Amino acid sequence: MEDRHISPLQRLGFAPCIAHFILSFGDLNKYVFRDESSDDDVIQNLVNEHTYEDDHHWQWFLHDLKELGFNRSQCFTDTLRVLWSDETLRTRQLSYQLSACTLNADPVIKMAAIEAIEATGNILFTHATQVAKELEITTGRKYIYLGQFHLNVETGHAAGGKDIEAQLAAVVLSAERMEQVLQVVTHVFEVFTSWLDEMLTYAQTHAHAQTQLAGDGIIDGIVDGIVSVPINPDALGV
Ligand SMILES: [Fe+2]
Repeated sequence: MEDRHISPLQRLGFAPCIAHFILSFGDLNKYVFRDESSDDDVIQNLVNEHTYEDDHHWQWFLHDLKELGFNRSQCFTDTLRVLWSDETLRTRQLSYQLSACTLNADPVIKMAAIEAIEATGNILFTHATQVAKELEITTGRKYIYLGQFHLNVETGHAAGGKDIEAQLAAVVLSAERMEQVLQVVTHVFEVFTSWLDEMLTYAQTHAHAQTQLAGDGIIDGIVDGIVSVPINPDALGV
C-alpha cells in the first residue's frame, strides 16, 4: 500500500477479497463478543459497549466497494464462488479462528482479543486512508470504510468511556489467566498476519484498471468502472 509506483486503485485491490471477514465481523460483534445475559461483569459491559460501535461498519465497506467500482453485476453463484474460493481461504479462517477463541470465553479473554483486533485494524486503516486520499483526488469520490472517516472512529483500542483504560488497568490477572491472555493475543496477531499475506497476494494477482463500461457515466472526467482480471504477478513487477 505504501508503493506509490502502483496506482491507488490497485493498492486497494484487495477489497473484494476481504468481504467475507468484514461482513462477518459485524456478526462476531453481535453474536460472539456481545453477551447481555447479565450486567454483573465490568469487562463484559465494556465489551458490549464496544460491539455497538463496531457491529455496523461493514455497511461502510459496501459503500466503498461500490465507489471503488467493484460492484459489477455477476451471477450470485459466481459471487459465492469468489467468496469461498481458495484465494480467500485465510479471510474466512479469520472469522472462524476469532470466533473459536472468543465464543463463550471469559470477558477478559474477549477484551484481549478485541484490543489485538483494534491494534491491527488501526495499522491497516492508517495505511489504507493514505491510499484512499490519493484516489479521492483523482475520482472525486469518498471512501468511508477505507478512508479517513473510519480511521477517525478506530482509535486502536476498544471503544468505551474515557475511563476505559483505567478500568482495564485495574483488572488483576492470575499468572494462569495472564498466560491465556498472551496466548489469545498471539493467536489473533498470527491469524491477522496470515490474512494480510492473503490480501497482498490477491492484490498482486488481480489487475484493477479504470475503464469505461457500457452504461456507466463519466464523473468529473473520470471514467467510471473497474475491470478486474487475474494476472501473472510478474506483470506487476512485484
Ligand atoms: Fe471498524
